[in-house]
Amino acid sequence: MIAPLIEKLGILPFLALTPIIAWLLTVVYNLYIHPLRNIPGPKTWAISRLPFARSFTGGTIVYDIEAFHRKYGPANPDGTSEPFDIIPWFNFTAFDIFGDLGYGETFDCLQTSTYHPFIKLLFDSLKANCMVVAIRLFPTLEAVFKRWVFPYMMKKKQNKYATAVIDKVNRRMSWEVARPDIMSHVITGNEKGTMTPGEVQATFQTLTLAGSETTATSLSGIMNLLIKNPEAYAKLVEELRRTLKKESDITLDAIKQLPYLNAVANEALRLLPAAPFTLPRIVPKGGDWVCGTWVPGGTSVYILPWAVNRDPTLWHDATGFHPERWLPSALEEKSPFFNDRRDALHPFGEGPRKCIGMNIAWAEIRLILTRMLWAFDYEQVGVPIEWEKQKVYVLIERQPLFVRLRQRKVAE
Ligand code: HEM
Repeated sequence: MIAPLIEKLGILPFLALTPIIAWLLTVVYNLYIHPLRNIPGPKTWAISRLPFARSFTGGTIVYDIEAFHRKYGPANPDGTSEPFDIIPWFNFTAFDIFGDLGYGETFDCLQTSTYHPFIKLLFDSLKANCMVVAIRLFPTLEAVFKRWVFPYMMKKKQNKYATAVIDKVNRRMSWEVARPDIMSHVITGNEKGTMTPGEVQATFQTLTLAGSETTATSLSGIMNLLIKNPEAYAKLVEELRRTLKKESDITLDAIKQLPYLNAVANEALRLLPAAPFTLPRIVPKGGDWVCGTWVPGGTSVYILPWAVNRDPTLWHDATGFHPERWLPSALEEKSPFFNDRRDALHPFGEGPRKCIGMNIAWAEIRLILTRMLWAFDYEQVGVPIEWEKQKVYVLIERQPLFVRLRQRKVAE
């Protein structure tokens, strides 16, 4: 039907229609699909930027919006927020905490509700690193890339991240005021200069990455699982609100032993490990036995937590979310989780290179989760994250998770 018309009229009229079709699709999306579609307000403003632009340039913006408030009421009459993606907020929090602990200053992410450019650099540098590692497996290719590609592409991203860390390290090291953060230990412990400035900078590069992205990923995973499992969510909220009557009751000591909180966190760390591709080990010179196989010295070996944690020979309903497998009742013979190999869970690695931030991470996970669930009720909007579909570049590139929250009313 269209072909004869094109033949008759030529292609130009159809090309001219393209922007109109694109605009119509945007209108349908904004009215019926957009996460903010239920926010009250004039539909003309929802479907086009023109009314806003006209009001803004015409100097009437504040009066127009005030009139909308009178007509449509507040967006959240019962204290409910607009739908928003909660994932960046875990990163804002974890990066700000690490900024404070590591460099003596936050990254201002929570304050400004934006990612510090540093964070984007960090993930870009991880991706670049994966590329570099893969290419190094092919020496001929590596020679070509080393000469012509790395210097311009990958290195550029990695160097940008390194430079940002170096600036922060140098700024903190020049402080005259004593402050009990991680750097203060480096400064006092390094009076003889055992660590070169380069080593300090490299250490802080690792710490910044290891100390924030992992915690943010773990919290994202926990929230995604809770949103998908209303029963577990309700049990956890009940435990927290029953035990902690007022906000000031929330202390690390008070929440450390909460059974269901710990069970939820352990189960999430099992099912959605923040470091699903653990760091390898080199078999020592002369070779050694690894799981019954002789492996020559110099070979790189590792255990993949993602596979171990989902192995049906180790866990009952291995891919299901069951905080109960971490409760004392799981040790009773009648429990379906009785035979689970709980000792196979090592979300922080094992041995001499085990995560040095494990205690900080546990403190952050317990505290942030408790404060969030104690003070707000959460409602899922749209679809939860399909965790298994996210890309892994050593760490996980996370998808958005849209929620709506309502502040709980409590008498302090
Ligand atoms: C939930 C959060 C976290 C998870 C899941 C996690 C997980 C891990 C894992 C699996 C390793 C590798 C261990 C191995 O090779 O056996 C590791 C190493 C490391 N982590 Fe964490 N981590 C977390 C939080 C943190 C925090 C908060 C910090 C710092 C404040 C940190 C600092 C480090 C460092 C420096 C290493 C390297 C240790 C070494 O090579 O000696 N991590 N982490």
